[in-house]
Amino acid sequence: RKKMKTVDGFHKMKVERKKISMVTCYDFWTAKIIDDSDIDAVLVGDSAAMVMHGFETTVNADVEMMTFHTAAVSRGLRNKFLVTDLPFLAHKKGRDFLVQSVDKIFKAGAQAVKIEGAGANLPDIEYLVKSGIPVMGHLGLTPQSVHQLSGFKLQGKSEEKAARILEDAKLLEQAGCFSIVLEMVPSDLAKKITDKLNIPTIGIGAGKFTSGQILVLQDLLGMSKTFSPKFLRKYSDGYEIFQKALNYFSNDVVNNKFPSEKESF
Ligand code: KIV
Repeated sequence: RKKMKTVDGFHKMKVERKKISMVTCYDFWTAKIIDDSDIDAVLVGDSAAMVMHGFETTVNADVEMMTFHTAAVSRGLRNKFLVTDLPFLAHKKGRDFLVQSVDKIFKAGAQAVKIEGAGANLPDIEYLVKSGIPVMGHLGLTPQSVHQLSGFKLQGKSEEKAARILEDAKLLEQAGCFSIVLEMVPSDLAKKITDKLNIPTIGIGAGKFTSGQILVLQDLLGMSKTFSPKFLRKYSDGYEIFQKALNYFSNDVVNNKFPSEKESF
């Protein structure tokens, strides 16, 4: 599979009707593994606040956290396009703050930023795009608004709300977004949006008709025993694999089987 390292690569994939695969990544060692894989592009998601830091929501992610994780990931990534989330309220604190945030995130190695929502963000998105910053949109369930949305749940269920999301998607495309994440929306709405736009859509909990799919790395690896939402397919039993390795090690230590002669100096 050809490497897709640019914004043009995203566009080409949509034109050629090739599906785009994305995963999240927050650290150097998994970045190196992903770099050698068939995955097309990587997102340093603000889900880092939950997955890596144990917070309940992504509201606790800030520019420092995103910059720190972006720097670690970019050191391990040579062959993939790297997008980083603009964290909670970073685009609501004025242009200067926005520009300084993007500056830090880009200097850490990101090639694009993802911004949740449309509406009042549109002028900022347009400004960034005109300043040479590729922007990925994010509609449907926008986790930074979890409290306003009353939880992590399906969006765009009513005709009126679906029409709003479709309209927002068109506005994001007009503002210059090179791609849009659609999170937790009905498949038929995701299909409609994907068909209407020239830019690719990347789905999570949005059915199979989007231009690509993204999952949180730890979710697809099955690292949590308890997190099993309907949209998730676990591609390995990471939790069990880790438990087994840790317990083998611990048993070997307890039973004086590690290290052996061969593993000693
Ligand atoms: O932060 C994140 O991980 C995301 C993806 C789930 C799209 O925004």
